[in-house]
Amino acid sequence: MNAAAGVIDRYRDWLPVTEATPAITLQEGSTPLVPSRNIGPSLGLRRLYFKYEGLNPTGSFKDRGMVVAVARAMEEGVRVLVCASTGNTSASAAAYAASQRLRAIVVVPAGKIAMNKLSQALMYGAKVVALRGNFDAALETVRELASQYPVALVNSVNPDRIQGQKTAAFEVVDTLGDAPDYLVLPVGNAGNITAYWKGFKEYRAAGRCSVLPRMVGAQAEGAAPIVTGRPVAAPKTVASAIEIGNPASWEGATTARDESGGLIDAVTDTEILQAQIRLASTEGLFAEPASCAPLALLVRLVRDGRVQRDSTTVVVLTGSGLKDPDAALGNVEPPIELDGDARAMAKALKL
Ligand code: F0G
Repeated sequence: MNAAAGVIDRYRDWLPVTEATPAITLQEGSTPLVPSRNIGPSLGLRRLYFKYEGLNPTGSFKDRGMVVAVARAMEEGVRVLVCASTGNTSASAAAYAASQRLRAIVVVPAGKIAMNKLSQALMYGAKVVALRGNFDAALETVRELASQYPVALVNSVNPDRIQGQKTAAFEVVDTLGDAPDYLVLPVGNAGNITAYWKGFKEYRAAGRCSVLPRMVGAQAEGAAPIVTGRPVAAPKTVASAIEIGNPASWEGATTARDESGGLIDAVTDTEILQAQIRLASTEGLFAEPASCAPLALLVRLVRDGRVQRDSTTVVVLTGSGLKDPDAALGNVEPPIELDGDARAMAKALKL
């Protein structure tokens, strides 16, 4: 296996692929597990790591599952990919479609996705449909479309997506040498928490790790159906990636939570944005708002004594901060504009 292999080559034995499956890749996966230098110590957490999924080829974890879903669709001779998306899935589907010369049709809730995600889908050449309504309605529509036309639905309701995404759990174990005590991640449509839990369980069954982590999911307060136990008709949060009111993998999320002895709780938009700035300005890691919900939740859980300080904790940073700079920029000081020379600058900067 070459060092630049993607998830299909690296984890072939664990995936639903055969010799007949095209081993396509944009070299997704192999993302860094970055040890916290500042937030961990300031919380008193000795072993805190960030799984930096923003370094995948399209800037989010979606690429891990997309590569498998697209390869399987190609194996079956399907040439048109369809998805609903809050942005990242659409960027990923569009990129893999472009690289394989397939058609991608991506359906996004009109006016509700970050501009940079939209620009990715457009640049990769997807046909973008902005559907009036929210993500849940868009997903319902593409599910109906896919049941009637010869297209591959590449949302995480497609089991091949979950299969590919579970490789992130494998990487965490391969790097740490065992599973962590806690795996903390955002929950939107709930595919990713389902995938991680599947990955950890498979590795444990094969003797690759000796423990299973407690799965801790973070939702945004304005879009927290799993926390409240009922669908949210009009979800609203600054973390547009997880602005979802009726998650497709709801049961996968509650199963992961309950089997692992974990929890799923909600954080406010203010907590999310505070966590985003703290992460960027003290660790040098810029993640999009949805990706910062788990850090916000972890801060609260440590403070309340619900996460032990001597535990090993992994926070999954699901998407790059460059995906949605608008959400972040309201919370930092603007650049200082100056005329003049070095002396004037030094004075303004109080050097
Ligand atoms: N973080 C980011 C950056 C996401 O884009 C998503 C989901 C999640 C977390 C939540 O993952 O849905 O598996 O629970 N984005 C989807 C999309 C819905 O369309 O890009 P999940």
